[in-house]
Amino acid sequence: MKSIESGGYSIHFNEQCYVELNSFLEHSNFSKIFILVDTNTHNYCLPEFMSNISYSSEFEIIEMEAGELHKNLDTCTQVWHALSELEADRKSLLINLGGGVVTDLGGFIASAFKRGISFINVPTSLLAMVDASVGGKTGVDLGSLKNQVGVINFSEMVLIDTSFLKTLSKSEMRSGMAEMLKHGLIKDANYWKRLSHLSELKISDLESLIHESVVIKNEVVKRDPNELGERKQLNFGHTIGHAIESYYLESETKTTLLHGEAIAAGMVMEAYLSTKTCGLSDRELFQIKKVFIDLYGPVEFNENDKSSIIELLKYDKKNSHGDIKYALLESIGKSNIDVIVDNDMIYKAFDYYAS
Ligand code: GLY
Repeated sequence: MKSIESGGYSIHFNEQCYVELNSFLEHSNFSKIFILVDTNTHNYCLPEFMSNISYSSEFEIIEMEAGELHKNLDTCTQVWHALSELEADRKSLLINLGGGVVTDLGGFIASAFKRGISFINVPTSLLAMVDASVGGKTGVDLGSLKNQVGVINFSEMVLIDTSFLKTLSKSEMRSGMAEMLKHGLIKDANYWKRLSHLSELKISDLESLIHESVVIKNEVVKRDPNELGERKQLNFGHTIGHAIESYYLESETKTTLLHGEAIAAGMVMEAYLSTKTCGLSDRELFQIKKVFIDLYGPVEFNENDKSSIIELLKYDKKNSHGDIKYALLESIGKSNIDVIVDNDMIYKAFDYYAS
């Protein structure tokens, strides 16, 4: 699969990843190379990753606990201490080998350590391959509030080896698919159609679709890296989706939802808002709802859940001057940004989702 150029760095795929990485390491003269893994990627991905490295040097492995609950400043502090004790300096490199938690958190750790060291993202989950690892967003959660602390800073390269997908559960695969479906909804009706007709998630079918998803995202990021305008479109489904995810993260009685599961519900509700504010047709709304409910099943919300989730909307990063701003659809493949919707309408979106 063809490498993709982004502003100042490249995204490589499969065998080409290791050709590029080995050559980069050969020519870069890093003082030390660190690999950040979590408990899962340490076991399931690191051995294969290392077997592809021909550059002869010592690699220091730093391990963090797996899971969204560990995407916080405490984990950053632990990793910064580890880097310091292992004598990392400004010419060190951090390779983030993992899903979106590892690439987001590792990117932030590298961006802040000694005011910034180089990093490379090696995403191992579908979600991180098509979204988190591409586009320079780094950061951590604040309590249960998603990605509240972070910076935009680009990696040296992104290496997408789809063979890591073998290590994922079906629900992790579905979670990543939600971001791919989102790319179709906001930018490419044809891509949405092809993806939504996939009956089974076979890695062989997915490869070119992953590539297409990264192309769609990368084009948006290249035009608006700092999310001043167009990049906000990538947040379709995420205003409500992130609030749902945060609510489930902090709840003691509910099972945590995967990111894709939460934003799938968020996309159905925001598609409903789109019909009320941006002209999305009822026919397309119905189609969107059917695809997401068939794939993810419905999440059930009681009255208390709804009001607590709506309360969390005020923390969304796109908000300003007290207004909650949504990225919504005009039609499948075309989106709008900065749409203001009042909270009464959100209750109706919950009702539509449950109907
Ligand atoms: N995940 C949305 C973005 O990177 O802008």
